[in-house]
Amino acid sequence: MNDLNALVMSAQTAFADAHTQADLENAKARFLGKTGLVTELMKGLATLSPVEKKVQGAAINLAKQAVELALGQRRQALADDELAYQLKAESLDVSLPGRLRPPGGLHPVSLTLERIEQIFDSMGFEVAQGPEIETDWYNFTALNTPQGHPARSMHDTFYVEGGCLLRTHTSPMQIRHAVSHVKRHQALLDAGQAMPEIRVIAPGRTYRVDSDATHSPMFHQCEGLWIGENISFKDLKVVFTDFCRTFFESADLVLRFRPSFFPFTEPSAEIDIQFPSGPLAGRWLEVAGSGQVHPQVVRNMGLDPERYMGFAFGMGPDRLTMLRYGVNDLRLFFDGDIRFLSQFR
Ligand code: DAH
Repeated sequence: MNDLNALVMSAQTAFADAHTQADLENAKARFLGKTGLVTELMKGLATLSPVEKKVQGAAINLAKQAVELALGQRRQALADDELAYQLKAESLDVSLPGRLRPPGGLHPVSLTLERIEQIFDSMGFEVAQGPEIETDWYNFTALNTPQGHPARSMHDTFYVEGGCLLRTHTSPMQIRHAVSHVKRHQALLDAGQAMPEIRVIAPGRTYRVDSDATHSPMFHQCEGLWIGENISFKDLKVVFTDFCRTFFESADLVLRFRPSFFPFTEPSAEIDIQFPSGPLAGRWLEVAGSGQVHPQVVRNMGLDPERYMGFAFGMGPDRLTMLRYGVNDLRLFFDGDIRFLSQFR
């Protein structure tokens, strides 16, 4: 009997010493497992006489129940402890200071695009959006750059199935916008009356097979187009000079219209700017291509080039952003590094 009491007590101690469920299961095995102490006692009954078996058996059973009870209680206690610990760990300290959520901001190129749109809006220009996947017609042929034209070689791009391509410039928007404008005012044109002028800018993403510190395979352009009955190169100079001086907040900014060639303009000019002061002062910096819209392009817009004329330009908002903020590597704009981007908040 005393042996059994001692056994129960040592089981209780072993269970109390177990501080994890795994330890407890190990302790249980030592008493109640297949070769556990209680189990071995049961096996020993086989050698006893029927009378002894009955007495001993009953006593061992009582001891076994006591061990099982102790085990059950300890299991519950461990589970309670675990729950209490978990509740404590997950409790909310409402007196802690809040976590700061840094304010977001627009991407520097988006800031530039917004700025461009605002300035041209103030000069009465609409803003048009067009597809980045273009047809050969709009990207090249309608812009007086037919198949085999040498100017195409400077516009290597990405082709998609079905013969379309990722537009190499925003110039196709000249045609798209003008054609829909002409369609809207066809009745006036048919009646020989004057059509409202086309005055539009078209900002957006453009693509070329190019990649280094100043070229990215995806970049931005902003097209400009003003077509009317008497819009000339002089108007281009006024509008673009006004734009640049406003954009860079410098009334003394100098512009240079350098003769150049584009198939869709005649004459054509590259536009360079020079800052009067600051780190870039004294250098000519190219910011846009431009020119008087070619008669063939006016015709492709559905207009009579004898009556309608105007100018177009295409500028690089990425370049403008680099110049405005003094950024020297274009790739920084497209890496998505928050340390760089957060400086423009
Ligand atoms: N599309 C030309 C380019 O990407 C830029 C350009 C030049 C646009 C002259 C124009 C223009 O509208 O008149 O190289």
